Amino acid sequence: MNRRHFALAMGALPLSALLSRFWQSQGPAPVRRFLQLNAFATNAETPLDLLTDYLTPNDLFFIRHHWRPEIPDPRTWRLLVDGQVSSPLSLSLADLRRMPRASATCVLQCAGNGRSLHAPPIPGIQWGMGAVGNARWTGVRVRDVLDRAGVRPGSAHLHTFGTDRPPAQVPPFHRSVEIEKVLQDGIVAFEMNGQPLPAAHGGPARLVVPGWTGNHWMKWLARLSVQPEPQKGFYMDVGYRYPKSPGAPGVALRPDEMNPVTEHFVKSNFTRYPAQVAPGATALLRGFAFSGAPDIARVEVSADDGDTWSDATLDPRHDPYAWRLWSLRWTAPEGMSGRVRLLARATDSRGAVQPRTPVWNQSGYFANGWHPAEIEVTAAPLPRPETGTLPGLGEQVPELPDGAGKTQALVSCTPCHSTEILRQQRLNERQWSASLTKMRGWGATIPEGEESTRLIAYLAEHFGPSNDRFRPIVTRAVPRP
Ligand code: HEC
Repeated sequence: MNRRHFALAMGALPLSALLSRFWQSQGPAPVRRFLQLNAFATNAETPLDLLTDYLTPNDLFFIRHHWRPEIPDPRTWRLLVDGQVSSPLSLSLADLRRMPRASATCVLQCAGNGRSLHAPPIPGIQWGMGAVGNARWTGVRVRDVLDRAGVRPGSAHLHTFGTDRPPAQVPPFHRSVEIEKVLQDGIVAFEMNGQPLPAAHGGPARLVVPGWTGNHWMKWLARLSVQPEPQKGFYMDVGYRYPKSPGAPGVALRPDEMNPVTEHFVKSNFTRYPAQVAPGATALLRGFAFSGAPDIARVEVSADDGDTWSDATLDPRHDPYAWRLWSLRWTAPEGMSGRVRLLARATDSRGAVQPRTPVWNQSGYFANGWHPAEIEVTAAPLPRPETGTLPGLGEQVPELPDGAGKTQALVSCTPCHSTEILRQQRLNERQWSASLTKMRGWGATIPEGEESTRLIAYLAEHFGPSNDRFRPIVTRAVPRP
């Protein structure tokens, strides 16, 4: 329902005047836009106020690339299936399309979604809350593909390879998934919401692993290899791991003290709520909730910092591992005035409850603390935002600030990624120094000694722990293919 239809439907209700006033206070119709955090590799999230549909439109779906992809030509693309199989396969898109179809409607979320909300700050893309979406993925079951190849006994892991090739010594993004999970739920998807899978989302085909984080959903899929052991490498043994038991915030753990990230943690988010509500009047709150469990049992909202909770209404639309849209009409108490902080929390179908604060972990995964929405309770009308005043719409990438290390940063860092990745960090000297060591290992040329000291001082001065100047670039949604 769009804004006008909503207002018309509400016209029949006695509360109409109040409701439409509060609806209007939400401002003009939202522009289809992205919050871009990195130019290359592309990393862009969806503003939460646009995540109101059960199926997230393809052109608004968040993008997370590790680096500039090599996009296969769908006409010549092949999927190789090898390893512990009795007959290795080489399948074209047409071959896949001739096999029995399978679909799953489910959430895709980046494991690092919400990283910017962890304290103390963590290096990496500083995602807000919008690296998530819900789509209908169609293709063929992994089970059907592997049945054709004939899996030999003793196979426990499916190694997955995409076509993206990293620069210099950057480790390749190779992954593996437990074969039990992919045989049960996995899909080799070539359609997204009824359209050919867009290249930005891994087309011609990607892996879909319902309920598991995006790092398992290999894009630009080129090869599946059945193996007895998990894949090795940086993105298995170091990256994408989560503490077996929580450590102290800010203290890193060894890889063997962690497990690979797999299932999503239960969480809910507000998507729409009015900026203002009058005392005694009702505000419509909306949001979504999902988990690594197949369904959400409950979403609640608190107006008193978690002492008491009200149940939201769950939208009837649902599929296993999809999100649940929810809504709640919240009435501001008579006599209340000032800023109120509403909090949302979800409980999943296995009884897991969203925590007040997420567990800090060194890679910044699973930020699933209670989500806040701030509303001004006042009878005085707030000024209505004008159309077209979205900050930064179409803005150019700001330059790096002037300083002794600027040239070095441009020379050493921009061969592999744009400067936004520097501008969004909040790292101290020690963390910057560790980051340079990591980048050196990956092939960055940074002179040792004075140059290096100057660069670290420059980065820590401008992009240190108190850096709050970074704003994502607001970009228009990419046109539909
Ligand atoms: C040889 C290629 C390469 C060069 C040169 C390079 N980087 Fe990176 N950097 C990467 C890759 C790849 C990533 C991971 C990007 C991702 O995960 O989206 C990355 C990520 C980062 C991150 C995010 C935190 C993290 O650990 O993932 C920071 C901070 C960073 N780089 C800083 C720098 C700085 C500062 C320089 C210049 C001194 C630099 N990089 C030069 C390849 C490079």
